[in-house]
Amino acid sequence: MIYKGNMKPIFADDAAIDYAANLLRQGRLVAFPTETVYGLGADASNSDAVRRIFQAKGRPADHPLIVHIPSADSLNDWALTVPDAAKQLAARFWPGPLAMILNKRPEVPLIVTGGQQTVGLRMPDHPVALRLLRAFGGGIAAPSANRFCRISPTQAAHVEEELGDAVDLILDGGACQVGVESTIVDLSGNRPKLLRPGHITRLEIEAVLQTELIIVSPQSEQTNQQEVRAPGMMAVHYAPSTMAMLCPADRLTEIIQELTLREKRIGILAYNLDQAENRLTRVIRMPEQAEDYAQALYTSLRELDSLQLDMILVEKPPNTEAWQAINDRLCKATSAF
Ligand code: TXA
Ligand code: MG
Repeated sequence: MIYKGNMKPIFADDAAIDYAANLLRQGRLVAFPTETVYGLGADASNSDAVRRIFQAKGRPADHPLIVHIPSADSLNDWALTVPDAAKQLAARFWPGPLAMILNKRPEVPLIVTGGQQTVGLRMPDHPVALRLLRAFGGGIAAPSANRFCRISPTQAAHVEEELGDAVDLILDGGACQVGVESTIVDLSGNRPKLLRPGHITRLEIEAVLQTELIIVSPQSEQTNQQEVRAPGMMAVHYAPSTMAMLCPADRLTEIIQELTLREKRIGILAYNLDQAENRLTRVIRMPEQAEDYAQALYTSLRELDSLQLDMILVEKPPNTEAWQAINDRLCKATSAF
């Protein structure tokens, strides 16, 4: 089957997956679905192929990529040593939305790791990603398939919007179930650190490891340049182009009134607020449960961002453990009122 010249997403049947695996072998770029967000994949052992990811995304070269692997056994192909903590977490959460940072084997290209001696590894829980990994037979380096500092794609059409011709093939596996990027735990040092909150919560990881995680906040990460390793940890990231503000629920009505009096067109990501739409407002009512909210978050932000509005207002959701990943992404996507 020939897909050449067709940048539209392609339904990920067996033929498309075999074709994608061949493209990866040739050093080309393939976007594929995972359970979190769509990834922009390249052969992780091929430095030239990985360089193309950075070009396509416009991502600075010192920002490391996650290598996707087909099984926990493959950890040994990439990590110098696999600590017990990594084995325990893989046994409990893989395949799944958890990435682990481990010390890298010497042969892992530095371009993958942004020049660091550690490598990020994850076995994704998505049938298309797993079939692709098996068909390809190696590690696939894949950041989220968006341009640098933009909202991550959770549908194949978003990848097309973001990257267009810069990607050789887009495998369509439908909408991502989790909707926000994986939890990242750094196990390369003496004590485990949480680098990025995700669907798998801090408490779930601590329950397996029987120890507390060190929480690395974006601020401390930014002030200590030696330690900067995660673009996902910069304070501004995953942002829509429209100005977006995070609003406490009790101030929202007043802020909306003020803005509409000034004829501002606003998009509202509402949680509790029961706001009717009018000439100046477009309202998306978000789901009540954290898991459903996360799944809908990037699609909803993308939709509001496409409407050429003056501002997007996001009603602050709850602040409990289950909402940690959502609040983290909302903080990065918005400014505070
Ligand atoms: O859910 C996900 O993890 C998605 C899907 C595609 O798997 N991928 C993803 O990739 O979010 P990306 O590149 O957008 O974010 C990966 C994060 C970055 O913040 C990066 O800095 C961090 O992982 N990371 C990767 N390798 C690292 C390393 N060696 N040390 C510290 N952080 C690392
Ligand atoms: Mg990303």
